[in-house]
Amino acid sequence: MTVRVICMAKEMKKILVTGSVGQIGSELVPALRAKYGNENVIATGYKTMPGESFRNAGPFEIVDVMDKDSLRVIIEKYDIDTIYHLVSVLSAMGEKNPNLAWDVNMITLKNVLDLAKEYEFSRVFWASSIAAFGPSTPKDNTPQLTVMDPNTMYGLTKVAGELLCNYYFVKHGVDVRSLRYPGIISYKTLPGGGTTDYAVEIFYEALKNRKYACFLKEDATLPMMHMPDAIKATIDIMQAEPSKIKTRTSYNLAAVSFSPKEIAEEIKKHIPEFECTYEPDFRQKIAESWPKVIDDSSARNDWGWKHEFGLAEMTKDMLEKLGEKLGVNL
Ligand code: SER
Repeated sequence: MTVRVICMAKEMKKILVTGSVGQIGSELVPALRAKYGNENVIATGYKTMPGESFRNAGPFEIVDVMDKDSLRVIIEKYDIDTIYHLVSVLSAMGEKNPNLAWDVNMITLKNVLDLAKEYEFSRVFWASSIAAFGPSTPKDNTPQLTVMDPNTMYGLTKVAGELLCNYYFVKHGVDVRSLRYPGIISYKTLPGGGTTDYAVEIFYEALKNRKYACFLKEDATLPMMHMPDAIKATIDIMQAEPSKIKTRTSYNLAAVSFSPKEIAEEIKKHIPEFECTYEPDFRQKIAESWPKVIDDSSARNDWGWKHEFGLAEMTKDMLEKLGEKLGVNL
């Protein structure tokens, strides 16, 4: 029995996560390690270094994914078989530096897909976004297949990236799977330069200062999701049988939609003195170009997606966990 277990462990192919120090990566890596074993999940980062406990929990490598050969070295070193490619410049940051957004988002994806083809990976995951939609996209119950005319550099790299994924699947048989993530809310790592970041900042400010000046208008409704649901969706889609994945661009994915006013009111139920004011900046225009409510029935029907956290459950969980992290009592 022991011998068999050891042999199986030896045969286990390795998983690589790019962008592992980012908002999603920092929570996806521990979840994958819990599932597949610490040594089998290779976390990578480039500019931002992880904390000590993350770094010591399993393999960590510094890799510039823009440089195909650097990535190749790590793929060969660990005999990588699966990649979760999370590196991305987000919407607001992308508008400040569109060249960087184009280069980082497109070149890294092309490198990952080329190497996945060359090394015959069993699976690739790539993160798309609600930002792939644009002003002409229907805003309510946005269908899986619809008009996509994003007007941010981030959004257009997501549309091009989705088409590239589909191309590598059809043309080269690369088993690539992708999700159009909504705004992700979490307490472990801050998001880096997105339009939905207000929905994370609001919790920090509510706990620390009892007030928050929101950079979107009070009625700017957007699709959102609590991190545990995002992690579950990512692992679920990667575990699904290939025949169940009928969309090879990227799947619509939804949990809950709310406006800044609605989340502020939910927080007030726990912190009655909390005050939210509204000072919309350039990110308001980005928010206005995105859907309000996403129809994710394809993900639900094809591979059984189901969310757990609504606005009330997410708010309670965030205030408890972030309060603990910040040492602030409600
Ligand atoms: N959270 C992202 C952003 O706001 C959307 O994918 O840019």
